[in-house]
This record gives sequence, structure tokens and C-alpha cells, in this order.
Amino acid sequence: MPTLTFCGHSCCLIESGGKAAIIDPFIQGNPRASLTFEKVPPLSAIFLTHGHGDHLGDAVALSRRDQAPIIATYELAGCCQMQGAEVIGMNVGGRHDFGWGWVKLLPAWHSSSIQTSDGFTYAGMPTGVLLEIEGKKLYHLGDTALFSDLGLFGRLYGPIDVALIPIGDHFTMGIEDALEAWRMIQPLKAVPIHYTTFPPITQDPTRFTGRIQEQGGEAHVLNPGEKLVY
Ligand code: NI
Ligand code: MN
Repeated sequence: MPTLTFCGHSCCLIESGGKAAIIDPFIQGNPRASLTFEKVPPLSAIFLTHGHGDHLGDAVALSRRDQAPIIATYELAGCCQMQGAEVIGMNVGGRHDFGWGWVKLLPAWHSSSIQTSDGFTYAGMPTGVLLEIEGKKLYHLGDTALFSDLGLFGRLYGPIDVALIPIGDHFTMGIEDALEAWRMIQPLKAVPIHYTTFPPITQDPTRFTGRIQEQGGEAHVLNPGEKLVY
């Protein structure tokens, strides 16, 4: 069964059958990072939900280190390729088989750009990442607002074994909206992400997981570095 390690903020490591992949590898500069750049295991794939710095993070450097493809929307992948990364450019709604599993990029309601000294570079649409590895489905919602198609995804692509749901508010859903997202997706396990890294997104994640548990659901607060087999 795949193992998820929450690495702080939205960064998640997935290990299975001797292979590793990472989603949103914001490590250097992440005050809640559970590991250093050097401690990231050799990667077979890097997934990005969007181009903001707290998600793009160290993706290019890790891709160059491991010759691992960055899998993301076409524009974001293209920006990374210009910096020397290996990439697989996709777009929202598409599915790609990467050999030991498949990924589908799902819509997310947010924005996506890369900030430079000249302003903002368009980085394609923001996405969620649905990953199936060893027959288990993980859905990383990225940075998203609440929207009703989350219910469609739960119905069409479920059962979702684990959903990683942002709860920080301010830039994404807060706890109330995240609870509605959980109700719509109906994952077997829920894990809160994107909170407490910076002052505007400070939250008590047990307010999210506690409400799910009251309703008979399974939810886990993972401290940075903690693992969940799903
Ligand atoms: Ni963002
Ligand atoms: Mn973010």
C-alpha cells in the first residue's frame, strides 16, 4: 500500500514499491518543512498543482537532481523546462499514465502565476492532482475555493482513499468550506493541508478533523514528517 508523508504546508511525499513521488515540493524557505532538500529521496515524478512559490518550491532543482519529470499544466511545465527541468505538460481534465500509476489534473478555483522581478508570469490554470498508485487513489486538492464540482469528482472518481484538503482560509477554503468539500468528495481518509505555515493561514486542524470524526468519518492531522499508509 502507498505511504503518504506530509512534509509541511502542501508538500506531500508518496512512496510505493521502492519508488517515490512528491507533490508541491516547497522545502527550502518553508518554515514547516519536515525535511531538507538533501533528505528528499530519489524521485521518479514531481507533481505541481500550480505555479505559486509555496507549491513550485524546489521542483526545478529536484527535477534536475533526479532527472524526474515535473508533471503539471502545459504553461507551468514549460516555465520549468526553460529552467532545465524535465517535464510532462498536461492540461486540466487530462489523464497521463506514468508507468507505476496514473495522474489526472482536476480543476481548482484559484490563480496560478510565477512571480519574477518583472511582475507575474502566467502559469496555466491551477489544478488538483488525482493520483492512482497500486490501485489506491489520492486526491490533493491544491489551493482551491469550494465549488460544487468537487461532488462530481467524488462521484465519478471515488472511492477516494485519501483526500488532502486545504483548510488555511485567506488564500483557499477555510474549515467550514473544507468540511463541505469533504462531504461532497466522501474520501475514506481526509488530511488537512495548507495551514499555519504563515500567520494569515493559522488554523487549529483538530477543528476540521474533529468535526469529521463526529460524523463517523476518518480524518488525520499529520504533523510535518508524519506518515499515513492508505
Ligand atoms: Ni496558491
Ligand atoms: Mn498556496
